[in-house]
Amino acid sequence: MELDPTDWTKAEVYDLVTSLVIPRPVAWVSTVSTDHLRNLAPHSYFNLVADIPPHVAFSSIGVKDTLRNVQATGEFVVNIAGQDLQEALDATGVSLPSSSDEFSFAGLAPAPSVRVRPPRVAEARAHLECKLVTVVSVGNGHIVIGRVVHVHVDSSIWRDGRVAPDLLDPVVRLSRRYGVLAPLVTAEEEPSPHVLA
Ligand SMILES: Cc1cc2nc3c(=O)[nH]c(=O)nc-3n(C[C@H](O)[C@H](O)[C@H](O)COP(=O)(O)O)c2cc1C
Repeated sequence: MELDPTDWTKAEVYDLVTSLVIPRPVAWVSTVSTDHLRNLAPHSYFNLVADIPPHVAFSSIGVKDTLRNVQATGEFVVNIAGQDLQEALDATGVSLPSSSDEFSFAGLAPAPSVRVRPPRVAEARAHLECKLVTVVSVGNGHIVIGRVVHVHVDSSIWRDGRVAPDLLDPVVRLSRRYGVLAPLVTAEEEPSPHVLA
């Protein structure tokens, strides 16, 4: 099939590209407004874009509270949700008024961050505290690039001196559904560390 996205409806193009670019990790982004209101929302248009120093990027499709808060305060936290938090993550993906606190809405506890003002999701087992570097707008996306200034890793996901993917067990987006990550090799078979992007 040869497909020209300009021939398709917006919904069809969305369905096509989100079915091809898989699996996508999910940034569960917490922010605060200038009025100190908490906000939390999942973003599956998300990835690592540099490692020295580490930078991540997520894209806001349109202008939403998360983007407004990041632009106003310059700070955000990427919470990494395990499979156990998938329902709560889903609950924070619905559009609520700016005044609503998605932590309370989803029954999640805020935990203080170290280097930034937005709180972390206490129930998540890894967090990336980030400072805004820039926002690049393309199409309907506003790509937020942030420098990771502090990292929290719960000891429960740590094995043999590193984060074990099976213990992190992150929520990933897979086409219209969520998926799970299954390591192809066991810890014993794992190759020695090397640089791979
Ligand atoms: C799994 C999942 C992934 C999502 N990924 C994105 C995304 O990458 N970009 C985006 O703008 N919205 C995404 N959304 C929708 C936002 O989370 C949703 O619009 C949310 O209400 C935005 O909240 P806010 O207005 O508080 O920022 C996603 C929703 C879910 C459930």
